[in-house]
Amino acid sequence: MADNASIPPAAAQLPTPPDVIRCAYAELVVTDLQRSRWFYTELLGLVVTAETEDALYLRAFEEYLHHSLVIRRGPVAACAKLAYRVRTPRDLDLAEEYYRALEVPVRRVPAGTTKGIGEAVQVEDPLGFPVEFFHDAEHVERFTQRYDLHGAGAISRLDHFNVVTPDVPAARRYYEGLGFKVSEDIADSEGTVYAAWMYRKPTVHDVALTGGDGPRMHHIAFATHERSQILHLCDHLGAVRRSDHIERGPGRHGVSNAFYLYLLDPDGHRIEIYTHDYYTGDPDNPVITWDVHDNQRRDWWGNPVVPSWYANASTVLDLDGDPRPVVERRDAREAEVTIGADGFSYTRRDEVEQGFKVGHQV
Ligand SMILES: [Fe+2]
Repeated sequence: MADNASIPPAAAQLPTPPDVIRCAYAELVVTDLQRSRWFYTELLGLVVTAETEDALYLRAFEEYLHHSLVIRRGPVAACAKLAYRVRTPRDLDLAEEYYRALEVPVRRVPAGTTKGIGEAVQVEDPLGFPVEFFHDAEHVERFTQRYDLHGAGAISRLDHFNVVTPDVPAARRYYEGLGFKVSEDIADSEGTVYAAWMYRKPTVHDVALTGGDGPRMHHIAFATHERSQILHLCDHLGAVRRSDHIERGPGRHGVSNAFYLYLLDPDGHRIEIYTHDYYTGDPDNPVITWDVHDNQRRDWWGNPVVPSWYANASTVLDLDGDPRPVVERRDAREAEVTIGADGFSYTRRDEVEQGFKVGHQV
C-alpha cells in the first residue's frame, strides 16, 4: 500500500520522469447512469462521443481527443482514474520505469483498454490515486464553432483535477519530481501549508493539492470562456428546478483569479465550472502565497465557503477497483482556522498594519 512514507525527498535519485503535457481525462463511477446522463449531457452539455451499456464517454466542445470524462456505472460512487497525457509514446516507457523505481503498483495496458485511448501505463501513485499516462488517443470532431450545439455552460475543455491529500508539502515534492511547478499556495506564518496549485500546461493548474483526509478526489473542473456562461448555467438550473445541484458560488476565487461555480452531480461528485485564470508559461512565473487568514484567498468576493466544500470529497479506487483507505491529516485544517471568517469580508492592508485584522497576502 502506498502511503505518504513512500513519497521520496526531492533529492532522491529517480529515473527521468515522463513528460506530462496536461491533465487529460477522469473516470467517475456513478450509481445511476441515467441520472448522471441528465447531469452531464443535458445540464452541462457535454458531447457523447461513445456509449456502452454501462458507460458514457464525454467531451467538451473544443476537445478533439475521444473523451475528457468517462462516467461508468458501478456499485459505489468513486473516482476510478485521473489520466494525464504524455508527449510521446516513449514517455510510457519512462513512466513505467519511474513508478517501478517509486515501488508503487504499475501496469501497462494495451490500446483500447479504455475506449478511444491507446496503450497506457496505469499506476497507484505515491499519494494513493489511480493515475494513467497515455499518448495515443482517437481523434474526433472538434465542435468549437458548432454554436448551434452550445448550451448554457458552453463548456470548452477539461481544466484541472483537485485532490485531497493529508501532507501537502510531501505531495508537492512528488509532483515537482514529475516536472510540475507551483503557481499559488495557501500557508500560515507557522509554516503549515494548506493547499497548492501545480501545472504543466501554462495555466494556474493541472492539479490542485488540498490538505485533508486522503486520498480523495475533491473535484474535476471544466473551463468555459465567459463569466456569463456560468451565470447562464445557474439560471438554467433554476428554470429546471435543479438549483440544489449548486454547492458553492458563483463567485471569484482569490487563488487563481478564476470565476467559478461548484456543482454536485447526482452521486455527490463535485464538478467545477471555471474561467478567467491566467497564463503561467514563462519559466520565471511568480509564485503567489496567500496567508490562510486572508479572507479573500478562497473568495475575492462572495459568500463564505460552505462547510461541505471543506469536508466532502469522492472515494478513490485502487487499480483493482477497490476503495482506497483514507489517511487522516495531522496538520491544522483550513476549515478549522477560517470557517465563517471569509466570504463577504475583507483584509485591508492598512487595517492589517494598524492591527485591526490578522490576515494579509504575504
Ligand atoms: Fe478547482
